[in-house]
Amino acid sequence: MKISRSRFTIHLTVYLLCLVGWAPFVTADNHGAEPPVSYHSQIVPILKRSCQGCHHPGDPNADLIVTTYADLKRGGMAGEAIIPGKPDDSLIIELISGDEPAMPQNMEPLSAEEVELFRRWILEGATDDTPAEVDDMADGDYPTYLVPPVVTALAYSPDGSTLAVSGFREILLYDATTYELKARLVGKAHRIESLTYTADGKILGMAGGSAAQFGEVQLWDAATNTLIKAMRSSYDTIYGLSFSPDASRVAFGCSDQTVRVLSVEDEKELIKFDNHSDWVFGTIFSVDGSHFVSAGRDTALKLVEVDTGSFVDDINSSNKGYGEINTIARHPAEDQVLNGGEDRIPRLYKIFREIRRDVGNTDFNLIQAYEAQSGSIEGLAFSADGTQFATGCAGGEARIYNVADGTRLASMQGDAVGVFTVSFHPDGKQLATGGFDGKIRVFDTASGKLLNAFMSVPIESAGSEDVALVVSGMT
Ligand code: HEC
Repeated sequence: MKISRSRFTIHLTVYLLCLVGWAPFVTADNHGAEPPVSYHSQIVPILKRSCQGCHHPGDPNADLIVTTYADLKRGGMAGEAIIPGKPDDSLIIELISGDEPAMPQNMEPLSAEEVELFRRWILEGATDDTPAEVDDMADGDYPTYLVPPVVTALAYSPDGSTLAVSGFREILLYDATTYELKARLVGKAHRIESLTYTADGKILGMAGGSAAQFGEVQLWDAATNTLIKAMRSSYDTIYGLSFSPDASRVAFGCSDQTVRVLSVEDEKELIKFDNHSDWVFGTIFSVDGSHFVSAGRDTALKLVEVDTGSFVDDINSSNKGYGEINTIARHPAEDQVLNGGEDRIPRLYKIFREIRRDVGNTDFNLIQAYEAQSGSIEGLAFSADGTQFATGCAGGEARIYNVADGTRLASMQGDAVGVFTVSFHPDGKQLATGGFDGKIRVFDTASGKLLNAFMSVPIESAGSEDVALVVSGMT
């Protein structure tokens, strides 16, 4: 009797304690002092190692995407894979546990401890504790440089007044007559990979991003040098920005093997084209804006219809072993695309096919293959009148050619390591180059003579106290 009474008392006490302890910590009551599972530091590493290889945005078969919290939460074809507070109702737990777990498909199952981390994270509410983006630079500050940054992008404004130059986290605007620095456009993206003006010159567009974090398109008002908008896309740096002729859309290439087209007005993703099998470095629109062309490491030049996002044609013959394409440029007035890359040969193609493909898979759209360059081609540009094009190459040489007959008009040696970007002044008389050593060189296009060379950014003298940021790397 005594015993049972005291047992009753103990039971009641435990019961009451549970009630008290239970209410505020609904889901954490049976884990004592153990800290809650961190999505950022415990779940993400498992997702990256065991799941992301198949469940990433570049995989055409992936319904479920695990590269961001929002995507993971959204779930896949079967709907939400995670029900906060209810591990037993969560598809993800069902798929990763058991004797022969379905996921990760055809791979080593997660350890019991890892499955338990997922279970507990969901039980505790499946919250996102990813730290807010840290920004080490205050508004109004400029990046400081100890060493020259690699120059990855250059663009003259269509009115010929300005040369836009890539820096680290910023675009630097130089007066195209005096080559004096006149403005610095600082944004969030660390890498500036591509710079291009709209045809009317009103907007300067940038594509870049911060490695393994986000891709970003920035649109700057060229009259006021203010940011119109920054649009994030993909989870890595993006490349090869182009505007549709009416500037209502932007296209760019991604390291997840996709090409994306965004609406400038409402920032909606209109197209996510996933027909490439490697990184995409370049995009251009056709003259009427009805199609775009994309190219990259997979050596293919793809033609895509803008309205539907559907693949139309392989412009080049991918069975020719041409090598990776680093850069493409469209003729200013014709539906012709010039490409260059690993195999050093600039090739000019008709964008739209006029002859049916034959069995031999002849390179039917090819207009002309030009002379091999002294290194892999990193930069290409047409002159504004479309009569000339320029190349920039690994090894540091830049050259100018006559488009029509392929005559070499000038050879210019500057950067000792590599020229990564070239841009013609709209008057066609000057060519600006940028590359590994961080210097901008301006050449006379007729003679190939160096007119001007200057450092792309102000370099701090070593020992300066407030040096915060240093270099942007090569891609
Ligand atoms: C080798 C490839 C591969 C790996 C690795 C992999 N999965 Fe999958 N997974 C698939 C395929 C294929 C499907 C079916 C298509 C889809 O839904 O994405 C799938 C489906 C799923 C689904 C159902 C999605 C839906 O559409 O409703 C979940 C949940 C899932 N996987 C979770 C995981 C988790 C968690 C991991 C890592 C522990 C993982 N997968 C690793 C290939 C893989």
